[in-house]
Amino acid sequence: MEPSTQKLIHTFGALADLGQEVASAGDFNEMVRTSLHLLLGTLALRRGAVAECVDEGKLHGVAVWGLDDGLLTKFSICDADKTELRESQQTLLVLEDKNSFLDRHRDTLASEGIELAVPMIVRDELTGFVLLGGKASRESFSADDFETIRAMVRHIGVGIHTHRLIEQVAQRAEENRRLYEELRAIYRDTVRAFAAAIDIKDKYTQGHSERVGRYSEIIARELGWGEDEVEGIQIAGYLHDVGKLVVDRNIINAPYHIDAKQSSELNRHPVAGYEILSPINHPYADIPLMAKYHHERLDGRGYPDGLVDEQIPLGAKIVSLADSFDAMTTDRPYRRRRSFEDVVRDLRQNTGKQFDGKVVIAFARALLKEVTGEAKERRIIKMLGKGYLDGEQVPTLLSDLISELSSAQSNAATSS
Ligand SMILES: [Fe+2]
Repeated sequence: MEPSTQKLIHTFGALADLGQEVASAGDFNEMVRTSLHLLLGTLALRRGAVAECVDEGKLHGVAVWGLDDGLLTKFSICDADKTELRESQQTLLVLEDKNSFLDRHRDTLASEGIELAVPMIVRDELTGFVLLGGKASRESFSADDFETIRAMVRHIGVGIHTHRLIEQVAQRAEENRRLYEELRAIYRDTVRAFAAAIDIKDKYTQGHSERVGRYSEIIARELGWGEDEVEGIQIAGYLHDVGKLVVDRNIINAPYHIDAKQSSELNRHPVAGYEILSPINHPYADIPLMAKYHHERLDGRGYPDGLVDEQIPLGAKIVSLADSFDAMTTDRPYRRRRSFEDVVRDLRQNTGKQFDGKVVIAFARALLKEVTGEAKERRIIKMLGKGYLDGEQVPTLLSDLISELSSAQSNAATSS
């Protein structure tokens, strides 16, 4: 094989390697270092550096071989250099060339044994320079060598340029993510402040909205919902009674059973809540609907719309159970809270009529995990307060309820 053909093959091989290196998703500095070594190796050069233009007209060495690390700090680059290179279309500079960058640094370059300065120009922008020393053989560069160098430097320049773009995009994405997180935190704080405002109005149910939010979140988690949906249902729980803000305080706080007229006034609160929440651009879906339908029942006897089972969004079913569970397990002005046994009886009787079986099973499961110690945190137990779940029969009550409702569910599934 002719030596020139051999050299051509060798050069093509090096270019292919370089292309692969530049396109790899690995470490950026490593990519540039390998590229420099490929370039030096292909032409048997003794020294070289890849330097990128950084702020304030400085050059920063990304990869340096056979040269003093501090050397690149001695070089400066200005806008006029960039314009000159663009206009003159000089793609490779030898020390004798007329060029203002060389004019300023010729002595330093020569004393360090650098013979070529190759600008990396990508999309009309000067990305940096590749500086190269002479050949180990002391031969001078041929026209073919220059072409090889130009091609390889173009590859390296594109790699650096792409890397910068990716960095910028990542930085912007990170800024956006931070902003979004901040907005979400503001939203969450506002929602909690709202929940506190609702609960203050209803002096007998302090902390009710907060607890409904937490119960709803626990149920959704048990149902295997994703993190965003879980957060959304928690918010829906906090806000489910927001419509009570427009209901007369005396009705909400009546220390006795209210009459029909007062009751219909109170029953306006889901629709009022929907109207309050609808104009807000919530980061989670369906929050206004969950407030609107948290008093609907599977048997169609709920309000405001008398929807039946499949018409009620699952989220509203979850909030509904959380709401009722908290109502049953907290003291009210006209009654003490019910015993846990009694609450389980109520759930058993009303599943399929008021409550959705899947939702009740999920809640019972989450509570059973806390009672048996399978769950790390005892969140429901804490909300119920000391002593409430002390009875020995609690785990049995829960597992019986779960298995009864589960078999009812699978029977319904096979018969349908
Ligand atoms: Fe309500």
